[in-house]
Amino acid sequence: MSNYHIKHLEEYFQVYRKSVRNPEVFWEEIAEEHFMWRKKWDAVLNWDFKKPEVTWFQGAQLNITENCIDRHLQTRGDKTAIVFEPNDPKEKALHISYKELYERVNKFANVLKSQGIKKGDRVCIYLPMIPELAVALLACARIGAIHSVVFAGFSSTALATRINDSDCKMVITSDGSYRGAKTIDLKSIVDEGLESCSCVETVLVVKRIHNSIQMKEGRDKWLQPLLDEAYGECAPEIMNAEDPLFILYTSGSTGMPKGMVHTTAGYMVYTAYTFKNVFQYKEEDVYWCTADIGWITGHSYIVYGPLANGATTVISEGVPNYPDWGRFWEIVEKHKITQFYTAPTAIRALAKENLSYVEKYDLSSLKVLGTVGEPINEEAWHWYNDNIGKKKSPIVDTWWQTETGGIMITPIPFSTPTKPTYATLPFPGIQPALMDENGQEIHGNQVDGRLCIKFPWPSMARTIWGNHQRYKETYFSAFENMYFTGDGALRDEVGYYRITGRVDDVIIVSGHNLGTAPIEDAINEHPAVAESAIVGFPHDIKGNALYGYVILKETGESRDHDNVRKEINQIITEHIGPIAKLDKIQFTSGLPKTRSGKIMRRILRKIASNETENLGDTSTLLNPEVVQEIMDNVL
Ligand code: PRX
Repeated sequence: MSNYHIKHLEEYFQVYRKSVRNPEVFWEEIAEEHFMWRKKWDAVLNWDFKKPEVTWFQGAQLNITENCIDRHLQTRGDKTAIVFEPNDPKEKALHISYKELYERVNKFANVLKSQGIKKGDRVCIYLPMIPELAVALLACARIGAIHSVVFAGFSSTALATRINDSDCKMVITSDGSYRGAKTIDLKSIVDEGLESCSCVETVLVVKRIHNSIQMKEGRDKWLQPLLDEAYGECAPEIMNAEDPLFILYTSGSTGMPKGMVHTTAGYMVYTAYTFKNVFQYKEEDVYWCTADIGWITGHSYIVYGPLANGATTVISEGVPNYPDWGRFWEIVEKHKITQFYTAPTAIRALAKENLSYVEKYDLSSLKVLGTVGEPINEEAWHWYNDNIGKKKSPIVDTWWQTETGGIMITPIPFSTPTKPTYATLPFPGIQPALMDENGQEIHGNQVDGRLCIKFPWPSMARTIWGNHQRYKETYFSAFENMYFTGDGALRDEVGYYRITGRVDDVIIVSGHNLGTAPIEDAINEHPAVAESAIVGFPHDIKGNALYGYVILKETGESRDHDNVRKEINQIITEHIGPIAKLDKIQFTSGLPKTRSGKIMRRILRKIASNETENLGDTSTLLNPEVVQEIMDNVL
């Protein structure tokens, strides 16, 4: 018997020990007892981090939608699978039962088929947070098409890059989206992006905001009439365990985003098992994760993890401050939310507002609170604990990544004693290691180093779409025989982990993972810019904000700096999206560089963060004089 549901600390340690001593037996029991298979596996795990190559449940056959929907029909057919809470509180919330979800997914799957989509084809989904988004994911999974969701805040250029990288045949979008009091014309962003994508044959359009849009003859089709015609049963495509389920892009250290490929069986088993334990989900609970489905958090813990457990999961379309800053708490009261999962940046923004927004609402239904996406600072942790959890609901500070597919380091609520700012202990099956700069593992407690994972886990990304070499270089080359996370961490006296932040060129802004390279590439497109460097600096709400150092070309003309700043942010918005805009832009005559020409970001980071007492060793710089100039002109 597997310990599917961990209930106390002793049990956690027992389960953890078993998962490490005998990982294959451990995962096999979970897979066997809690999922529906068309055919069982030949081998639980094959792995070689040198290649790197990892397979879980090789030889097994299944369809994840049978696990997320069909198998619940007998026992939970009328139970609400999805609660949709619209942007406008005056619009009625929608309760979609498992039976209704079954019908919606099957019809949508038949529409995809009727448009020529087959197993293995890539479908790009660019939708707001409406039920069709979750249904579109599941419809792709039903027929074995690989979904690639692009967050609907990305620009047309960013969208086109992602569509072309994975050769998507179809785009699913909407006539627009609501965002607080504003509307966004998503369809024209798609139209603009598709001017440079010859691979896309069909665009399916969901009607959401009822504005008038351009429909391109032969390419663009309204979804609803096709659904009206579609048959409500679609036999699930039988998938192999290691067939790709989806691609999701994340930033990296070059301009090209990395299309992380997640496969079917391992991802399903791990997201379901973590969901159950990290949120201690019980049958009657109503779970709400505020993330967007456009990020991994939404894939794993709005859609697949909850539905695989027959849970009720909330999809909310709106923003935390519309119509006012009480919106989250209004939703908690209205739907009697039991588990609430959000990001530190949202907590910090909410904590700045008057407490009366919280006090107006009855939050007594809450049992477990979660955070994800970046380190949570102590002040925000206490505000969340005191005012939302009323010191009764444990906070699960969950550390994980797009690449890991599921939660990796986290307290188990009611079992693991929490500690502010600590993600605490590894989830069963996860074997973390802290490494020093020479590639040696650091043993013992009260130490810090680079966070690696020593052993495979079922939901790890298997490759980067079309670029296995980059996968190897990014994750398996820094440390021998280890997966390198890109994060730094410390381990305290009892073995709890605290994630200290990125140690590479990725900056987390409001929980969004932004690579410096793509932003610098965008800035350098400005005709007046010769070179640029981006660093992060601490920000009250966003966690980090972006600081740009820009060298202008010598043209002899004088330029209005404020105009150039505006234009630079405009270009960034066009290339990536408003999330990557710079808060500060300093013009400089040079950048501190090593003799090999590498920008010393460490120095730029310190100057931008006002930590100039100790800049560290600058003797290896090619141009040390520029440091003083930059310090004198810091913004
Ligand atoms: O630096 C870590 C930070 O977010 C990175 C992963 O970002 P992304 O792939 O966008 O996925 C975010 C949602 C899973 C990590 O490398 N991070 C994530 N969660 C935490 C965190 N940092 C500290 N504490 C966390 N709980």
